[in-house]
Amino acid sequence: FCLQFFVGGNWKCNGTKDSIKKLVGELNSATLENDVDVVVAPPFVYIDQVKNSLVDRIEISSQNSWIGKGGAFTGEISAEQLVDIGCKWVILGHSERRHIIGEDDQFIGKKAAYALSQNLKIIACIGEKLDEREAGKTFDVCFQQLKGFADHVSSWANVVIAYEPVWAIGTGKVATPEQAQEVHAAVRDWLKKNVSAEVASETRIIYGGSVNGSNCMDLAKKEDIDGFLVGGASLKGPEFAIIVNSVT
Ligand code: G3H
Repeated sequence: FCLQFFVGGNWKCNGTKDSIKKLVGELNSATLENDVDVVVAPPFVYIDQVKNSLVDRIEISSQNSWIGKGGAFTGEISAEQLVDIGCKWVILGHSERRHIIGEDDQFIGKKAAYALSQNLKIIACIGEKLDEREAGKTFDVCFQQLKGFADHVSSWANVVIAYEPVWAIGTGKVATPEQAQEVHAAVRDWLKKNVSAEVASETRIIYGGSVNGSNCMDLAKKEDIDGFLVGGASLKGPEFAIIVNSVT
C-alpha cells in the first residue's frame, strides 16, 4: 500500500517579513492535492507571522529545537515554546546542523526524544557526504545516523525520515531516482530488522537534495520515496506547489 505523501519546505535561514508575506500569499492561493501532508519550516523568528497568515491546511515546522526543557540556555528555543506558538513539527539532524554546527548522533537523538515527548512530530534527517559515498560507506553512514534516532525514539508514529545526501543539498546535483530508491529501500530494510516490520512499512521516507519542479515527478514514482524535503525550491510558492502535486 501507499503511504500518505509528505512534502516539507525547509526555508533555512532565508527571508524577511516582506518576502515571507509574499511567499505565504503564493502558498495560500496555490491549489494543493488533498492527499498530501504539506509542512513549511520558516526561521524561528517568522513562525508566528506565518502561523497567523498561512492557511491551516499547511502545517508549520521549526528547523531545530532545544534538547530538553527550557531554562537557562541562552539563544535556544524549547519544544514547549514551539508547541505554544502552534508549531507541529521540528526538523532534526539536518546535515547543516550536523556538519556546520557540529551536532552528533547522540545529541540529535536526545533532541528527537524530547521533541516527541512534547508532542512535536519530527522530520529526522540522515545522509552521507560525497567522500563517504565514493568510499562505499553510504549505507554505513545512513544506518549509524538512523541508529542515533532509533536509540532514543520509542514510538515512530510521529516520525518522518528524510534521506538527504549532503552532496545533493543546494548543489543542483539531485540524486537519480535509482540512487535515492536504493537508499530508501535500504533504510526501510534497516527499520524492519532493527525496529519492526510495522514501523518499516508505516514510516514515510522522504528525499531531499536539489528537488525542483522538473525532477520531482520521476523521483515521486519510486516505490520507497514517500515525499520530499525541499530547500531552495520551497522559497518559490508556485514551484513548491508543483512538487507537492507530484504525488502519484
Ligand atoms: O532540507 C532541505 C534540503 O537541505 C534540501 O535543500 O533543496 O536546497 O537542495 P535544497
